[in-house]
Amino acid sequence: MGEHIVSETNLKSMSELVSLCKRRGFVFQSSEVYGGIGSCWDYGPLGVELKNNLKQSWWKSMTLRDDVVGLDASILMHPLVWKASGHVDTFSDPLVDCKNCKQRFRADHIDLKKPCPNCGTRDSLTEPREFNLMFKTQMGPVEDASSMVYLRPETAQGIFVNFLNVQTTMRKKIPFGIAQIGKAFRNEITPGNFIFRTREFEQMEMQYFVAPGTQRDFFNMWQELRWNWHVSNGMRSEKMKWFQHPEDKLAHYADLAFDVYYEFPMGWDEIEGIHSRTDFDLKGHQELSGKKLEYVDQATNQKYLPYVVETSVGCDRTLLALMCDAYRTENEGDKENERVVLKFHPKLAPIKAAILPLMKKPELEEVASKLHKDLQENYKTDYDVTASIGKRYRRQDEIGTPYCITIDYDTLQDQAVTIRERDSMTQERIALANVKKYLMEKFKF
Ligand code: GAP
Repeated sequence: MGEHIVSETNLKSMSELVSLCKRRGFVFQSSEVYGGIGSCWDYGPLGVELKNNLKQSWWKSMTLRDDVVGLDASILMHPLVWKASGHVDTFSDPLVDCKNCKQRFRADHIDLKKPCPNCGTRDSLTEPREFNLMFKTQMGPVEDASSMVYLRPETAQGIFVNFLNVQTTMRKKIPFGIAQIGKAFRNEITPGNFIFRTREFEQMEMQYFVAPGTQRDFFNMWQELRWNWHVSNGMRSEKMKWFQHPEDKLAHYADLAFDVYYEFPMGWDEIEGIHSRTDFDLKGHQELSGKKLEYVDQATNQKYLPYVVETSVGCDRTLLALMCDAYRTENEGDKENERVVLKFHPKLAPIKAAILPLMKKPELEEVASKLHKDLQENYKTDYDVTASIGKRYRRQDEIGTPYCITIDYDTLQDQAVTIRERDSMTQERIALANVKKYLMEKFKF
């Protein structure tokens, strides 16, 4: 084919990715026809496939083991949950306003001695004040103080308040964990960088309940497992690093915390947090609810409140990191051979294979659509007959499809097809009857 890779460059700016996401149906601005709404995004047909594949990868890694079970708790919870968890009193960021342009900033994100970063006015910033990040809403038809509820700012509390329900019904012995995927909401002062920091996002969290005194060993275990999970999704480990929270910056519930950082085009930032939460949450709920939440060790008859090691990863943020990581421009400036390719791990790729009849001819399309239907029983596949074959390959490269299968006139004679692999662009001739088996071999993860 004469296609060869001479040079390869990484994603240079977030705007490049934002534009691909819109152009190819990964992510759209929410309510775009009304001019959009701040920091809210909608996942398009390819984005939702990618996101589901990512969630599935996490869910499998967490629950296909004996010591972790799943949960799906509701978003709205009793308001006292957030009192006991400390979120009502301490889940806030320091906020400053510019008296001139009215823009708001997080005090810890700007230099308070300098002029306003937005309008440049001197001495216009107010003193910092604490701004609680929880969204409030009303439950039921009467709007008064007693009907006020919060949108959960983390999924974790649904797990803490269900700790004994899960432990007793599943007859779990400590150590064991509970895993959950769900939406969380934070009224961030300065959201931004596309889907990196938004006010509505999805978390994938796992709380691991351990005997007091054993938390450090399990912390180390989960640190290693979580790092390996990111690598197993194809993320380059040289673009990842650990960041330990300094003691004076720990969240209100943690006595030790390490974040997984990824090197985004705008710099290094957090994608996941591993936290040692002690018995802070269970103790808080036990005290405020008046209900005992202790674990009874059947072997020793000991009763205690377990300690918790938490792994908390943002689904949207990890998806963004994976897209940044997969994005490559090859042969830049060489008009004929330049291409943008998303080198997703095949298990995450939204479309697993594209079926491409060489030309729009009934005899080719008949074979191609039969193959498409057959493969669709197992995989999300695409069928494309528009434009030149080169253009169609480029389109599939840009959305990260691992395999393109071309049906040409030779197929009608030899009952074989050409399979092109995305990254190497090498092509193989495979018998039509063996295509499904070939893909099954490739997609064995
Ligand atoms: N339960 C612990 C907890 O919520 P966190 O460090 O506040 O810990 C965990 O959040 C993860 O959730 C972060 O590492 C990030 O990936 C994601 N996350 C937090 N706030 C976010 C936001 N505003 N937008 C997108 N993702 C967010």
